[in-house]
Amino acid sequence: MPLTGNVALVTGASRGIGAAVAMALAAEGAAVAVNYFGSEAAAQAVVKKIQATGAKAMAVKADARDQAQVEAMAAQVKAELGPIGILVLNASIGFPMASFLEFPWEAFEAKLMGELGAAFHGCRAVVPQMLERKGGAIVAISSGLARNPGWGFCAHSAAKAGLEGFARALAYELGPMGIRVNAVAPGLTLTDATAHILDKHKKAAADQSPLRRNGQARDVAEAVVGILRSGFVTGVTLPVNGGSYVF
Ligand SMILES: NC(=O)c1ccc[n+]([C@@H]2O[C@H](COP(=O)([O-])OP(=O)(O)OC[C@H]3O[C@@H](n4cnc5c(N)ncnc54)[C@H](OP(=O)(O)O)[C@@H]3O)[C@@H](O)[C@H]2O)c1
Repeated sequence: MPLTGNVALVTGASRGIGAAVAMALAAEGAAVAVNYFGSEAAAQAVVKKIQATGAKAMAVKADARDQAQVEAMAAQVKAELGPIGILVLNASIGFPMASFLEFPWEAFEAKLMGELGAAFHGCRAVVPQMLERKGGAIVAISSGLARNPGWGFCAHSAAKAGLEGFARALAYELGPMGIRVNAVAPGLTLTDATAHILDKHKKAAADQSPLRRNGQARDVAEAVVGILRSGFVTGVTLPVNGGSYVF
């Protein structure tokens, strides 16, 4: 699938994995919309970095969980860059770490509705633009925790497992229309979201992977580019974790 000349929207691209994905897609020749929620300056910095390479980019504010804001964002991107052909659902929906027996229902509900709402609204707003282009590709950023649970992650695991199911369902429905839908499932990746994790725990995670290191945001970005380029791949979840799943 051609990335050059395509238009990509990456949600939650002001920092971390989303920022790396936005820069990688721009390096492949796509015009990129960098969605942010609270970090406007960081999003503008990503846009400047991309523009410095000669590629097109714009920053666009929206809460990925809010249908009206997501629709307005998709319309703004289309007006400035053209119809969107690539959507990366990356926005990080927060959640408290707590055991199941102490997990507040409201927080569980907010995580599930936030994660799945962001996926639903993003796809509903962008798929009509993909149909105008006669095709497109969606990548949902899941997590290894969808399949391999950890303490305190019951809401995150459930939300990401739901996201993967949603991606497979859309792959089935949208494939005949020329739209591929895949998920990428990072393991522990060094971003702001994991900065609080103790070094000894990061080392333990690295030691449990054949490649013996933690993931970097660019590792996930490379996988996203690879899966976008693979025109006959749809409905899969690609683990990006240095091979930890072999254990
Ligand atoms: N890091 C890991 O170890 C890891 C592992 C597996 C999966 N993941 C997944 O990878 C994705 C990115 O995580 P990350 O580690 O890169 O996170 P991060 O460094 O904390 O960055 C989070 C990004 O999400 C954006 N965001 C948060 N709430 C948003 C909302 N309501 N609407 C739009 N954007 C929103 C933030 O934007 P603002 O700053 O502008 O608010 C920021 O750009 C997430 O889906 C996460 O679950 C991460």
